[in-house]
Amino acid sequence: MNYFIHTYGCQMNIHDSEKIAGILEKAGYVACDEVENADIVVFNTCCIRETAEQKIYGHLGAIKKLKRTNPDLIAVVCGCMSQQEGVAEKIKESYPFVDVVLGTGNLNLLQQAIETARNKKKYVNVDFLHYREEDFPQSRTSYPNAWVNINYGCNNFCTYCIVPYVRGRERSRPLADIMSEVEQLLAKGYKEITLLGQNVNSYGHDLADGTDFAQLLHSIGKLSGKFRLRFMTSHPKDLSQDVIDAIAAYPNICDNIHLPVQSGSTEILRRMNRRYTRDDYLSLLERIRKSLPDVGITTDIMVGFPGETEQDFEDTLDLVRRAKFSSAFCFVYSRRKGTPAYSMEQVPYAVKKDRITRLLACQNEVTKQISAQMVGQKYEILVEGANNRYQNTMCGRTESGRLVNFKCDEDLIGRFVTVEIERASSATLWGRVSTEER
Ligand code: SAH
Ligand code: SF4
Ligand code: F3S
Repeated sequence: MNYFIHTYGCQMNIHDSEKIAGILEKAGYVACDEVENADIVVFNTCCIRETAEQKIYGHLGAIKKLKRTNPDLIAVVCGCMSQQEGVAEKIKESYPFVDVVLGTGNLNLLQQAIETARNKKKYVNVDFLHYREEDFPQSRTSYPNAWVNINYGCNNFCTYCIVPYVRGRERSRPLADIMSEVEQLLAKGYKEITLLGQNVNSYGHDLADGTDFAQLLHSIGKLSGKFRLRFMTSHPKDLSQDVIDAIAAYPNICDNIHLPVQSGSTEILRRMNRRYTRDDYLSLLERIRKSLPDVGITTDIMVGFPGETEQDFEDTLDLVRRAKFSSAFCFVYSRRKGTPAYSMEQVPYAVKKDRITRLLACQNEVTKQISAQMVGQKYEILVEGANNRYQNTMCGRTESGRLVNFKCDEDLIGRFVTVEIERASSATLWGRVSTEER
């Protein structure tokens, strides 16, 4: 029996899908490449923006046809979208061919949900149960990288964001659980660990023993052997000097920080409830670069938040020119039901469209300049695998997080090599392997 998982959304979901795969494999299913060959299909959903939702509903509709040729096909919908208020009912009514609906906090029920579906009964449950992931297996697909959750949920309630509603309140995993997972992964040969949380910097705030994120970094940084540690996402209001010092103290911790700014206007940041100003953010960047001169900083930026004026947007462009992000994920604000920004005065679509085009062009200039400076230099790269966008091309990242394409043997996947950058076209870097570490 075969399974197929559609994964939408962020790294959190990518990793949750590895847990889903683990449960399905334990139940006797094997992964397949085509949804047409599946006996069970899982939609691990995202609802961060309206476009994400629309795409999922479209794909969900296609299951009806598949069920006509395979009436025993089991369809499961889980993840952030099904956790949204009213969505489980909507799926029940409008997509009656869906057999199982689970949320983000009860993956541990998947096995019994499948049993129920096999008996031709529906299973709908979006209760938050706070499962322990040690309680079920995982099937990892991202070697040489491994994702590790450190905290779940979010307490920040940025006024545009649905995540606190669909992922629940912030909960930190005990340090000992994280350490034992990390040590096992390194023992198995994983070469890169990426710690995951909506706000990794607030790790430990809810733990009784006073552990914090800096301490976690020290604990992992001290582990022996050659590997890379990354983490995401950092909230600017909570990134402490202790954390910056910890990154600087250990060669295993990558000088790479994903630090979403969202806007360059203090007034918009205030209305987003981000709890830092434009100047706070810029001086934080200065402090980081003082301690970590070669750091790669990436960000998320949104245009068209309710009430954003042309001047607010110009402030964002100005910040982008100053900040020198190695890359920026740029989004058009999307209205999410149930969030405070939903009822604020909206920016017209044409204005948003114009701004996203200008923002992308602005960051593109910055990326191009940074890329051009990298040509001729040598970097240590962890070989990740084939880059399927190009023929016979492998890829990997610099410590700062830049993706580089090059040619090499497949048996170098999971090894560190030195690559000389030969050319750059804006965001894409091409290089030549000059030394292999065996
Ligand atoms: N916890 C992370 C972000 C998670 S969501 C943080 O605080 O940075 C990833 C990104 O999606 C956000 O940084 C934001 O830029 C974007 N985003 C969130 N809600 C959005 C919305 N309603 N419309 C458009 N983009 C949104
Ligand atoms: Fe959403 Fe803000 Fe929480 Fe990030 S910090 S998940 S943007 S509410
Ligand atoms: Fe991630 Fe989307 Fe959920 S961005 S946390 S999968 S709403």
